[in-house]
Amino acid sequence: MRIVVFASGRGSNFEAIQENIAKGILPDEITALITDNADAQAIAIARRYKIPAYIVETDKRTGLLSADEERRIMQVLKNISFDIIVLAGFMHIFSGEFLERLNGCRIVNIHPSLLPQYKGLNPHKRVIADAVRFSGCTVHFVNDKVDSGDIICQQLVEVEKEDNEETLASRILKYEHIIYSEALNMIRDV
Ligand code: GRF
Repeated sequence: MRIVVFASGRGSNFEAIQENIAKGILPDEITALITDNADAQAIAIARRYKIPAYIVETDKRTGLLSADEERRIMQVLKNISFDIIVLAGFMHIFSGEFLERLNGCRIVNIHPSLLPQYKGLNPHKRVIADAVRFSGCTVHFVNDKVDSGDIICQQLVEVEKEDNEETLASRILKYEHIIYSEALNMIRDV
């Protein structure tokens, strides 16, 4: 599959997918990175792998995109070859109109909780506050609601008594880097 990745920040999921492509674990190609953040570390990763990076600045860092922002993203997409959109730490949701214009193109996302629990921002903080025993991560298809599309795969991760937000986030992130590629392998031929 020709993949276009959307990332707003660190880009470790983007990098993990690209590394799996380089290792031959994924027979895919990342054709572009799109980011809303000119300071995103993901841009340096794209540069390292010679993947073209496009910056589409947005007013807000999270949430719904404006019609103009979506129009500018669509303009970039028109000049890229891709079969699937992979959101990897992209902090915005797309409108129904934008998704319709993509004409059935698959869009996937990863979220660091066991969806449908703990959708949205700061899931680890809420998991710790609720003292639940298990959390994890989920790869899912994207619709126009936050972290709400059909689930492709999940990894359960135990919350340890001494965990804080950071330790839990970093333990779950290691599994994110594994299951995102697994999910891409699962849906490739479907
Ligand atoms: C990950 O925890 C991902 O699940 C969430 O945002 C974070 C992005 O991290 N959607 P990174 O930019 O891939 O390192």
